[in-house]
Amino acid sequence: MLNVPPQAFPAPGSQQRVAAGGRTKVPLKPGRSLMDWIRLTKSGKDLTGLKGRLIEVTEDELAKHNKKEDCWICIRGLVYNVTPYMEYHPGGEDELMKAAGTDGTDLFDQVRTTGSE
Ligand code: HEM
Repeated sequence: MLNVPPQAFPAPGSQQRVAAGGRTKVPLKPGRSLMDWIRLTKSGKDLTGLKGRLIEVTEDELAKHNKKEDCWICIRGLVYNVTPYMEYHPGGEDELMKAAGTDGTDLFDQVRTTGSE
């Protein structure tokens, strides 16, 4: 017998596996893979909307950016404009929106500890 594990394809954790093992990864639209995202981040487009500047963000300001078309999330004290990432998020848009305009550190950490291996 060859020592080939059953169900080795798609690989565990592959985007082709959906919700395997109680996970809640969503199928991404064509053109929204991790490779597409990396390409976009290297394209020179202004993804933060701030042309590379860093600004101080108050909680009031953060709270205003709570829509899919304008979504900021704070994680460990840094605020990220996740608007362009929305369709690329492997956990889905709805999941990301749970933290829209707020400090998403706790939600983020819950996924990190219960989600991936
Ligand atoms: C900048 C912020 C974030 C980034 C860059 C990000 C990125 C990712 C990545 C790369 C994965 C795939 C993980 C894997 O393959 O194991 C993922 C999965 C996921 N994310 Fe996020 N995420 C962010 C914020 C959040 C937040 C705030 C939440 C919750 C409100 C969330 C919920 C999830 C969920 C539920 C999954 C699926 C986990 C699973 O079932 O394996 N994410 N995210």
